Amino acid sequence: MSRFIINGGNELHGSVKIQGAKNAVLPLFAASILTEDKVIIENVPNLIDVHNMSQILMALGVEVVRYGNLAEISATKLKSHEIHNKLAKELRSSIFLLGSILARQQYAKVAYPGGCDIGLRPIDIHIKGLRELNVRIVERAGYIYCDATKMHGAEINLDYPSVGATENVMLAAVRAKGNTIIRNAACEPEILDLQNFLNAMGAKISGAGTSTIKIEGVEVLNGTTYQAMPDRIVAGTFAIAVAMAGGEVKLTSARAGDLNSLLSKLNKTSCHIAFDNDTITIKAKENRYAVENIATQPYPGFPTDLQAPMMALQAVSDGICIMTENVFENRFRHVNELKKMGADITTHGRTAVIKGVPRLTGSEVDAQDLRGGAALVLAGLNAQGTTTINDIFHIDRGYENLEGALKSIGADITRVQ
Ligand code: UD1
Repeated sequence: MSRFIINGGNELHGSVKIQGAKNAVLPLFAASILTEDKVIIENVPNLIDVHNMSQILMALGVEVVRYGNLAEISATKLKSHEIHNKLAKELRSSIFLLGSILARQQYAKVAYPGGCDIGLRPIDIHIKGLRELNVRIVERAGYIYCDATKMHGAEINLDYPSVGATENVMLAAVRAKGNTIIRNAACEPEILDLQNFLNAMGAKISGAGTSTIKIEGVEVLNGTTYQAMPDRIVAGTFAIAVAMAGGEVKLTSARAGDLNSLLSKLNKTSCHIAFDNDTITIKAKENRYAVENIATQPYPGFPTDLQAPMMALQAVSDGICIMTENVFENRFRHVNELKKMGADITTHGRTAVIKGVPRLTGSEVDAQDLRGGAALVLAGLNAQGTTTINDIFHIDRGYENLEGALKSIGADITRVQ
């Protein structure tokens, strides 16, 4: 099993190009099978999750060719409408394929999805949304069987603005007869990216990025070439890295507008932030102060995916931070690992109280999930001495060559196989 060895204490200086967004690319891959034409997606990060999605598509009979950060996807012929248990367990995003497969094949059989172990992650909102499009769904022995022969547009009120359910319903409704309106839709920037991609394929969708999305069903979609948006969570992770390690770093291909909830907090407490259209420059201030209250919320609130990295920063900021995780129920598994490094954190249910210490101490820790693992890397950059992080396959699910990018701006980090 690979691990990272980090000798903490180096300031970060230079520039880093931010990778394409995993959470945008996965639904774009799912959307690519809505046409028989070839689709080209640029800015695709090389990640285990993207590889797993490609494997699932190929098992359906889709041709997926990758050249560096470009993917060519041709779903001219789909030979199957079934996603097997083993593949679905590797990747929660396999659930988006339910909507796409139904739009193309009318029938789908999909195993319950897996993914990061950060809570129960039910799929009831996906199922309810698809049922409202008049898809008949039966759940049996770990599989979901769907029949969309009578699928049509509908008005759908999501019980919660689930990102995945919003995307899944969009993917199903885009080729359904009639109009669909999704209310209480998720507003995340990745949903807007999906809308832009689908519209480039000939879809008629408006409203993504707000809580009401309108879809006018079309019969056929065409191929396109599309550049996926930059990864706001990766950009946020690097911004927090600079706050924790010190220095000044320019993030290129990064959109400050997608990260307001983080950058406004950093600006007040630990960093000077400057930005233009597609760069963000982060300069660490001499002193770091705690943010008093942080509560994760759906976009545009503070992103749950930056909760763990932000907790690592609060652990070395002057003062007390009260952090509440509202989106997932089991997302504090990094707390014990941060404590091994000297952090002073207590948890009460979904709330963590973090009392800042001047600096963390190098230790041997285990990545428990993707973003929690990234938080440990940031902690290691700050810590006095050497930190070893085990099980970094979790981190590889979302960060492309994280150690290479950090090394290029001065960090002392090595991957050991
Ligand atoms: C997506 C992101 C993930 C991010 C999350 C929230 C991708 C590939 N992943 O995950 O990185 O952390 O948004 O910003 O884009 N829920 C239900 N029933 C459902 C669906 C969701 O109860 O049918 C619950 C989940 O258990 C969770 C909450 O709703 O507690 C949010 O989930 P959702 O917005 O669906 O997140 P994902 O799409 O899984």
